Amino acid sequence: MNKNIITAVLGVCCAVTAAGRTEAEIDSCVNDLLGRMTLAEKVGQLNQRSGFGYADEMVGLVRSGGVGSILNETDPETVNKLQRDAVEKSRLGIPLVFARDVVHGFKTIFPIPLGQAASFNPALVEEGARIAADEASSVGIRWTFSPMVDVSRDPRWGRIAESFGEDTYLSSVLGVAMVKGYQGDDLTKPNTMAACAKHFAGYGASESGRDYNTTWIPEIQLRETYLPPFKAASDAGAATFMCSFNDINGIPSSGNRHLLRDILRDEWGFDGMVVSDWGSLDQMIPHGFSRDRRHAAMQGVNAGVDMDMESYAYCAHLEDLVSKGEVSEAAVDSLVANVLRLKYRLGLFENPYVDIKTSKRFYADASLDAARRAVEESAILLKNNGALPIDNSKVRKIAVVGPMADARHDQVGTWVFDFEKERSVTPLDALKDMYGEKNIIYAPGLEYSRQNDTKGFAAAVKAAREADLVLCFGGEEAVLSGEAHCRVDLTLPGAQSALLRELKATGKPVVLVVQAGRSLALADDAALADATVFCFHGGTMTGPALANLLSGEVNFSGRCPVSFPRMSGQVPIYYNRKNTGRPAADMTLINDIPLEAGQTSTGCTSYYLDAGDGALFPFGYGLSYTTFAYSDPVISSSEIAPDGSLTVSCTVSNTGSREGSDVAQLYVRDHIGSLVRPVRELRGFEKVTLKPGESRVVTFTLRPDDLAFYNTPTTRVVEPGEFSVWISPDSQSGNPAKFNVVDQPSVAANN
Ligand code: GLC
Repeated sequence: MNKNIITAVLGVCCAVTAAGRTEAEIDSCVNDLLGRMTLAEKVGQLNQRSGFGYADEMVGLVRSGGVGSILNETDPETVNKLQRDAVEKSRLGIPLVFARDVVHGFKTIFPIPLGQAASFNPALVEEGARIAADEASSVGIRWTFSPMVDVSRDPRWGRIAESFGEDTYLSSVLGVAMVKGYQGDDLTKPNTMAACAKHFAGYGASESGRDYNTTWIPEIQLRETYLPPFKAASDAGAATFMCSFNDINGIPSSGNRHLLRDILRDEWGFDGMVVSDWGSLDQMIPHGFSRDRRHAAMQGVNAGVDMDMESYAYCAHLEDLVSKGEVSEAAVDSLVANVLRLKYRLGLFENPYVDIKTSKRFYADASLDAARRAVEESAILLKNNGALPIDNSKVRKIAVVGPMADARHDQVGTWVFDFEKERSVTPLDALKDMYGEKNIIYAPGLEYSRQNDTKGFAAAVKAAREADLVLCFGGEEAVLSGEAHCRVDLTLPGAQSALLRELKATGKPVVLVVQAGRSLALADDAALADATVFCFHGGTMTGPALANLLSGEVNFSGRCPVSFPRMSGQVPIYYNRKNTGRPAADMTLINDIPLEAGQTSTGCTSYYLDAGDGALFPFGYGLSYTTFAYSDPVISSSEIAPDGSLTVSCTVSNTGSREGSDVAQLYVRDHIGSLVRPVRELRGFEKVTLKPGESRVVTFTLRPDDLAFYNTPTTRVVEPGEFSVWISPDSQSGNPAKFNVVDQPSVAANN
């Protein structure tokens, strides 16, 4: 059968076959289509433009096949008009894919990802992503730029808000949950969205926590800390990746062939699509990596960036580069194939349009309920001297104070473009509903988080004097976190600490409730408050969730997904640090040092004279209204071979007076390595809910992969030697069990 007939037959197949194609059939369709495209049409598919309504320029681009994807268009009628131009008025009828940053909800806003991480609940994260996909796809968005799985150990970096925090394992598990939530089990279904693992890679290591800054990440650390969540997302079938703005060791990710081809394609076998970040191809010029936009376009193709978001580098220069032989058409074809494959996988050739009859599916009761549960499970009780839960026998009047008590806009946090602030339910709203308006005395004290003017203090202090309990809602406005919003002073902004001091001076019990986009340095504030609650910007249902938690209707179960520093200068700070040759010991803190103290009188170990050592609230930490006890771990063997496994169990008991959930966390330590190893590494967790007096045995299996590490950039090994394993309520507590990895385990050891 000659080529033309094959092409014709395939063309017919690709046009009419039901969406449920096999990968082989998709490849055939892609190759068939590629074979019929002009170079200009191919380049058009690699061009992503930000939408601005049904404007002539965009219409012209679409009808000429000059654009492959549009981001930020969220009107379903406009989406369909543009799509109809693409499908019915362009020469080949290739559909557009519409994209948006749907990072923690579209209309029903969930906690920022850092908050969702505090829930340590993958099922909850998946549920939130599923709801976001349903709402966003109802207006035609079929591709989101989420999950952000950049491990981040530096809360100065504003984008820690979008991450799952400082731990590689937790980020991996929750990133996968989000991918599954967005993509479901059939990406051709019109209520799904293609996920996008971002920002590949190492963006969270931005030097000094300043956004877009350079990173220096040795390959071993890249593979140990920053790549695993991306590998997990790729293995989970994430349809797309986004390359990051930063350079890694001098090479911007948008031009990093080793990252995008050697690792992502060749080593991991990723066959999805890679999109640049906004303008990131162009930014290789100021990086000092590209001479000009034409050079950037060539470097992007060579590195393997399939789609150019808003650099206009590909659409301006690729045809010329091909015509001059500086870039092969085959290289362009491979990028275009990835774009077309995404569109086939999304079923866009069969279902390109939004069903207007069922569009704008927003704010379902079940969605709002899920959003409230997500906040309830992500808020963290950091301190409680008995002020919580609110005791109705003692508390009648409640003073609700602080700039975040009624912050409809700011409680949803960063990266929310489509929310409607009038749908936000604030803590003030919810507390009035719960306790009756006449029992709530509201006096913000400060109108917004950065305010330094104390004119509102008097009213707030008066409210406190008239009340039995003060709830002070502090924290950060949404604009203080997220992209390009970095802070070096991690204390509460504005005059919030001063307000807290004034409230405390009234002698009334004061509960500090912080809503923010990052871990903060709360040492002084937490010391003042009778109880401290931390809620990473919680989204639409922050109010009802916090009211349920503060009243005791719901028990706290959130745990720290990041370490909270005592002082800003401690960052970067993280639990899975190295021990050093002189771990902190016998610390003499700055106010305890005698005058004319001798040079070595404060000891010579690794700590700060002013901040001491370690986090104020460590990774994995969080309190409850009940208490839990953990037995020492029991292991199935004291010796295993390097390729062996062992089980480790622990009995978790609720030793308090009310039901509660705790997060049992599995940590390991490799005591001796050819490279020094962290003092602990999270390798598993399980959230257990127990009634008072109830106990449960929690069991994990440790496998070689849990004990292995890269001892060279290309080899990952389990080395013989002594290991410790914990099952504990946080990254600092618990007693370990010890075992040895030996080349030839003795039989007795397994008894
Ligand atoms: C931004 C962000 C990226 C986002 C993209 C599209 O600059 O870096 O996370 O998805 O542009 O808005």
